[in-house]
Amino acid sequence: MPVIGFGTWQAKDGEEAYESVKAALRVGYRHIDTAEAYHNEESVGRAIRDSGIPREEIFVTTKLTNTHLTYEDAKQAIDASLKRLGLDYVDQYLIHWPNPINARTFYKKRNAEVYRAMEEAYFAGKIRSIGVSNFHPHHLKALLKTIKVKPATNQIYVSPSDTQPKVVAFNEKHNILTVAYSPLGTGRLLGLNELNQVGTKYNKRPAQVAIRWSLEHGYLPLPKSTNASRISENFDVFDFKLSKEDIKLINSLKGKAGKAPDPDHVIW
Ligand code: A2P
Repeated sequence: MPVIGFGTWQAKDGEEAYESVKAALRVGYRHIDTAEAYHNEESVGRAIRDSGIPREEIFVTTKLTNTHLTYEDAKQAIDASLKRLGLDYVDQYLIHWPNPINARTFYKKRNAEVYRAMEEAYFAGKIRSIGVSNFHPHHLKALLKTIKVKPATNQIYVSPSDTQPKVVAFNEKHNILTVAYSPLGTGRLLGLNELNQVGTKYNKRPAQVAIRWSLEHGYLPLPKSTNASRISENFDVFDFKLSKEDIKLINSLKGKAGKAPDPDHVIW
């Protein structure tokens, strides 16, 4: 799994998503993260197919959205995502949220059922690996009791502003990779002085420092941008390493740029 993914949340379907994915693939990203809920799978898939890069070199992730509550729903949702993407398989398929508002009284049953459909798709070769997103330990504990194929990843909000230590520790204990969405704190981190200060030392921009911080913690960051030069900047992070002191300074930014959403209280 390529160590940096390209996030497409809020990249609008049509030219915006298409051009940004094309730009990302051009500068070297090989992992593209989308979701049914982003409403951009068609443009993302078209960009992947038009890129000229062999399909097997690109790692594509998409996600099951919250309106799918049963085994049958999930089965259809997987096929519908593949159809919109115009792909025969995705490299990873995730349950987007563990506790949808319309399943709040039966979310354990819902997750077990949709996961069963995902396992079937996995055995049929439609999805090459399975993961979850926004899961807390109690959601994972319940799910782990009912499944055959262990989730490979848990994609969660992780930035210096909120490192979700309990979730990350649970992931590590169960050998589940933490994939970090919003590694730039949805952009809010980038105005902080500390990131600028550290960046100056390495001749790097604040976003590059935040992405490097994520890599050095062993997370897999998914920076999002729709701007070609920022897309390129965010991938240019393999020629420096942060010192222990700088990592410590960045660790101290807790609470300075927002928090992870609480999956048991989201209104979707
Ligand atoms: P834009 O798409 O206009 O570049 P996150 O990945 O944490 O969700 O953050 C995404 C936000 O950060 C978007 O608003 C994006 O805006 C902005 N962003 C992404 N990369 C950079 C960068 N290198 N410099 C400044 N802002 C950035």
